[in-house]
Amino acid sequence: MRLIDVKHPLVDHKLTTLRRSDTPSAVFRQLVDELVTLLAYEATRDILVDDVEITTPVAKTTGKRLAEPRPIVVPILRAGLGMLDGMTRLLPTAEVGFLGMKRDEVTLEIDTYANRLPEDLSDRQCYVVDPMLATGHTLIDAINFLLEKGARDVTCVCLLAAPEGLKALEEAVGDRANVTVVVAAVDERLNENSYIVPGLGDAGDRLYGIVD
Ligand code: URA
Repeated sequence: MRLIDVKHPLVDHKLTTLRRSDTPSAVFRQLVDELVTLLAYEATRDILVDDVEITTPVAKTTGKRLAEPRPIVVPILRAGLGMLDGMTRLLPTAEVGFLGMKRDEVTLEIDTYANRLPEDLSDRQCYVVDPMLATGHTLIDAINFLLEKGARDVTCVCLLAAPEGLKALEEAVGDRANVTVVVAAVDERLNENSYIVPGLGDAGDRLYGIVD
């Protein structure tokens, strides 16, 4: 597993505002969108492209275009939805699949309640978006789902990760696939409720308000 911890002053600046508990939801959503665009730039460094012959107003030349089959972006519902627009803005040809996963706050077990993905993901570059890599359980389940459908090239884009979750993910994935994790920061640790410390709280609640 490859970890890309994006180091950029703009990322640090936006992330700091995102972390603040007095940042309102509307600003939070806007900052997540901006941060994802910056992370997506790093996450797509190995996106496959083909040569294409074009004519400019001055001459013929060879350029690049995003290759087929189309990459697929997979937001993990619900918090991953807040990162979707930022990803698709940079990847205009991408198809979008959905995985609905919810963590039981007591048992910490993951329940997969929705799945809308193509049957065959072999040869597809998959971009999973989920803001918080905490215990890693959700992402491990999501990656296993994609690998069962043939995916072998998976990039996870997260705002924050905990060292515990990164370790669990690395152990779970092993050498079964080419997995990259792109984050704006790796925080200190998880607390007793499996929240990332210092973190930013519950990303879903901060994006969309609390729904019981
Ligand atoms: N999910 C969140 O939204 N925040 C955390 O800190 C951990 C998991």
